[in-house]
Amino acid sequence: METHKQLTIGLFGFGVVGEGLYKVLQQTPSLKASIKKICIKNYGKKRNAPASLFTTDREELLNDRDINVIVEVIDDADAAFAIVSTALKNGKDVVSASKKMIAEHLPALLSLQEETGRSLLYEAAACASIPVIRNLEEYYDNDLLHSIKAIVNGSTNYILTKIFDEGLDFKQALIQAQQLGFAESNPTLDVEGYDAVNKWTFLLTHAYGITAAPDEILFNGIQHIHAADAAVAREKKQAIKLVAQAQKLNNGQVAAFVLPQFVRQDDHLAFVKNEYNGVVIESGFSDKQFFYGKGAGSFPTASAVLSDIAALRYQYKYEYKKLYHHRPHQLSQALYLRVFVSFDDIALIPRERFEWIEEWHAQEERKYLVGVIAFAELKNNTWWRENNTSLILTADPVIEEVETRKLKKKSLELAGIV
Ligand code: HSE
Repeated sequence: METHKQLTIGLFGFGVVGEGLYKVLQQTPSLKASIKKICIKNYGKKRNAPASLFTTDREELLNDRDINVIVEVIDDADAAFAIVSTALKNGKDVVSASKKMIAEHLPALLSLQEETGRSLLYEAAACASIPVIRNLEEYYDNDLLHSIKAIVNGSTNYILTKIFDEGLDFKQALIQAQQLGFAESNPTLDVEGYDAVNKWTFLLTHAYGITAAPDEILFNGIQHIHAADAAVAREKKQAIKLVAQAQKLNNGQVAAFVLPQFVRQDDHLAFVKNEYNGVVIESGFSDKQFFYGKGAGSFPTASAVLSDIAALRYQYKYEYKKLYHHRPHQLSQALYLRVFVSFDDIALIPRERFEWIEEWHAQEERKYLVGVIAFAELKNNTWWRENNTSLILTADPVIEEVETRKLKKKSLELAGIV
């Protein structure tokens, strides 16, 4: 019995991902999905597809009754939101890869899905080829998820790999990431952590039912990492990665952040190099699971779009189970983080704001310390991003409130203070 429907696609965007999808669809005729029209911004460019497919008039796609699926892979978040909203209201299902748009408009997109009954899928928007959203949504349909730790931005991981493993400098590595089609058109979004935190917002929704705006989450990128930090990492036989983390606390709430972090050699994430992404999930009874795959680039991203398109044949929808069927979790600031901070001048570091300091290295030209600091101190202040200061989380950085008193006493004893 043939239960799945024929899909006629209106495609927005013919950049790295759009063109990748066009080619991938040509190689998968069994999918019974065909592109009827492609909407682009500039007619001028030469494209590897018949000219008759292209238009610059978005209404041609949005008002075409034959088109039952809109695939949107453009990089202008506002335009993407307008397209996706209209498509849903016009009764079309939508597949999107616009992480910024989804992160900034998730509450509105949730309402639109409820009102219209249409499906909006966006597996390609986080970790590209890794099926992380559907796994969080379907497989982890319970409240046993203890933590998720992930590398969700391919460009910064590529840059860090090239710096660490091949000795490239930051600029050379970034140019390569751009040439390979991994970076955003505005690479600041990658480098300064915006892209990663955008992805983390909706992954938190599927993992924990949290609907937070990107600026509610503590984040930074790799722009402040200093060459001397890399030297410290090498000495410790660790790597530095941009890590997105969410962890359930004893109080039942969830701590979430996206920050550079030292990663031990035996950590699964140490294995994740170049544009690859990785996700380590810890859940009750199963211990750790590791998902790994390409997190950026034309075909890996197109493959996730393709999978969403395939899922639409069976009317698949996200149910947002953690939001609607379980009790959603709250974000918490009730924790402490063990951090490495390197700096040029100690006068610029508010030492008194640390709970305690475990290591001082003040002899070198580039000085650093390792200490424990309240999460809220970092969330509510900016000194640690200013004056050429670099803050990197240590491996296993989370310290719960209940642990701090004991640890503080121990560290003071070790220092001979009590
Ligand atoms: N610029 C993004 C990244 C593309 O590097 O991860 C994939 O979302």
